[in-house]
Amino acid sequence: MGTDLEKVLISKAEIDAKLVELAAEIDRDYAGKDLLIVGVLKGAVMVMADLARALSSEVTMDWMAVSSYGAGTKSSGVVRILKDLDTDIAGRDVLVVEDIIDSGLTLSWLISNLGSRGPASLEVCTLLRKPEAAKVEIDVKYTGFDIPNEFVVGYGLDYAEKYRNLPFVGTLAPHVYGG
Ligand code: IMP
Ligand code: MG
Repeated sequence: MGTDLEKVLISKAEIDAKLVELAAEIDRDYAGKDLLIVGVLKGAVMVMADLARALSSEVTMDWMAVSSYGAGTKSSGVVRILKDLDTDIAGRDVLVVEDIIDSGLTLSWLISNLGSRGPASLEVCTLLRKPEAAKVEIDVKYTGFDIPNEFVVGYGLDYAEKYRNLPFVGTLAPHVYGG
């Protein structure tokens, strides 16, 4: 896997198994409902694709792209919309699908933005959650894995737009990001 990566934190098999579990819960919780799943670009592409295929329910999918100002490995909490939803979510059951929650700043901004549009319900599913996320008050209904406070890449997650296509989640060697 090259010298940029330090170790595999979560294997593809572990991710697949977890998404099947989460999908079963989501199927159960939204039975009889008309669920809209919203993926947050670009990181959530892999989770959306695999989670959607693990669901038995009929769902519709939409995408949003947001950007936290600033580069590097820390979120600033200042968010702007790069691409908005195509769907009017008023009265809809909406499930936001995220790759990772770190500080939670991006997500809490997103939740208040989407919440103001009057959805019937608004919940969050994230594949990964870091310890910092526990400090902000966002109710995350579905969490895949709680991970240590390390910078991870793969399965949609990038460092400087690289490594998104790795089929697993791994940690970067410190020399790559100057750590
Ligand atoms: P937050 O606002 O700090 O919760 O994080 C917002 C975004 O930062 C996430 O949606 C990711 O795109 C990115 N991010 C946070 N932690 C990591 C990481 O460990 N690896 C790659 N991207 C991350
Ligand atoms: Mg993200």
